[in-house]
Amino acid sequence: MRLFSSVNDVTNVQQLVQEALALKGNPYAHKHLGENKTLGLVFLNPSLRTRLSTQKAALNLGMNVMVMNLDKEGWALETQDGVIMNGTTVEHIREAAAVMGEYCDILGIRSFPKLQDREEDYSEDLFNKFVKFCAVPVVSLESATRHPLQSLADLVTIQENKTSAKPKVVLTWAPHVKPLPQAVPNSFAEWMCKAQSEGLIDFVITHPAGYELSKDFTQGAAITHNQNEALKDADFVYVKNWSSYKEYGRILSDGKGWMLDHSRLEQTNNAKVMHCLPVRRDLELSAEILDGPHSIVIKEASNRVWAAQAVLKNMLESL
Ligand code: CP
Repeated sequence: MRLFSSVNDVTNVQQLVQEALALKGNPYAHKHLGENKTLGLVFLNPSLRTRLSTQKAALNLGMNVMVMNLDKEGWALETQDGVIMNGTTVEHIREAAAVMGEYCDILGIRSFPKLQDREEDYSEDLFNKFVKFCAVPVVSLESATRHPLQSLADLVTIQENKTSAKPKVVLTWAPHVKPLPQAVPNSFAEWMCKAQSEGLIDFVITHPAGYELSKDFTQGAAITHNQNEALKDADFVYVKNWSSYKEYGRILSDGKGWMLDHSRLEQTNNAKVMHCLPVRRDLELSAEILDGPHSIVIKEASNRVWAAQAVLKNMLESL
């Protein structure tokens, strides 16, 4: 594997999930695979889970890790060609990515969307240029439109915690005070649609009108504006806010009545509740759920290590 940016980069999703679970059972089984290899983690945005879990995964494989907060510690990046750089940008991505590729055997990059121009964000211009110019395998640490390490960990968590052969998984929109990217729900939807196509789950998305995700990520999902209908008999409920794709980057309403609380879980099949974190308590998701037996958010975050380790192992094996 030389690129991990979406579910489409994975030849066999079920095998990757099983690999992650095997690594969870035996974390140091491949502790020499990454010897004398360096992982570079480049962040243009904040992170807790992705940063630490990917570092831990690399260390378990015997790799060295370098982390750079490029937005704060690097030179201001120019990404466009043909620009006379007489403004605020100091270094072109052509040189910056190429140099990082010289120092590292595998690179990871996190780059959020600006949420101003849909076409620009969905072109994944920065991420794609980084991949093109660094010349080493690249793992997405969350790009403008996807968060595949999160989605793989989510699928691992569902496989690990399911109590029936084909659980019902519901992605529900949640309120928020800030406009958030669609990357997590896009990615979750495309991974769940893939899992559904392989007979592993039944997948439903629910959100208020106006919050439709791009159809590129939701092919095969049942979609409804009726949260109660969606939650009926659910085995897993995945809670996440996102801003509008249609009215790009906008919050369309206060989302009153969409926060998941205990009363809504009554109609589910004793559902397990997931969230990628960070989560705003009693805004996105009730504290009573987060602190109660339905929540598996910490297990889910813990599985980020094994998802990252499975991906890095595959990349190391292809070097
Ligand atoms: N879920 C997730 O990616 O967390 P961080 O933003 O803290 O890395």
